[in-house]
Amino acid sequence: FLQCQLSGLWRNEQDSLMEISALADDGGFQGEYLTRVTLAGGCTRISPLRGAQQQPSEVAWPTFAFTVWWDTFSNATTAFAGQCFVDASGREMLSTMWLLREAVGSLEEDWKATRVGRNVFTRKRTPKG
Ligand code: BTN
Repeated sequence: FLQCQLSGLWRNEQDSLMEISALADDGGFQGEYLTRVTLAGGCTRISPLRGAQQQPSEVAWPTFAFTVWWDTFSNATTAFAGQCFVDASGREMLSTMWLLREAVGSLEEDWKATRVGRNVFTRKRTPKG
């Protein structure tokens, strides 16, 4: 199994971009997310993300989860969970599913506040160093 590394620049099938920093010893990481799509359909800003990879050095294809804060343009939150793979041609990809929680004004609207979906990320650039 070729090792799959989370750090670096990634792009998903919606053309969103994500840069993940080097991983800390405990598997924690930070990064930035630029989404090409929004609930309101308006303009977007670079948004911070924080997450953690499981078993940082022991596994070739680690699982991970991270959260994105869209706070500069939206009061929604997204949580992604996924796994890093190396495909048959040696290319790394991140297979993820996400929950997007929108803020609603009342408990009666709670039932429609969460969306679920899938994103596949492929590597756009390898990390420096
Ligand atoms: C919002 O519109 O309120 C926040 C932006 C949400 C973007 C979502 S998160 C899941 C999906 N994957 C992306 O790259 N963008 C959308």
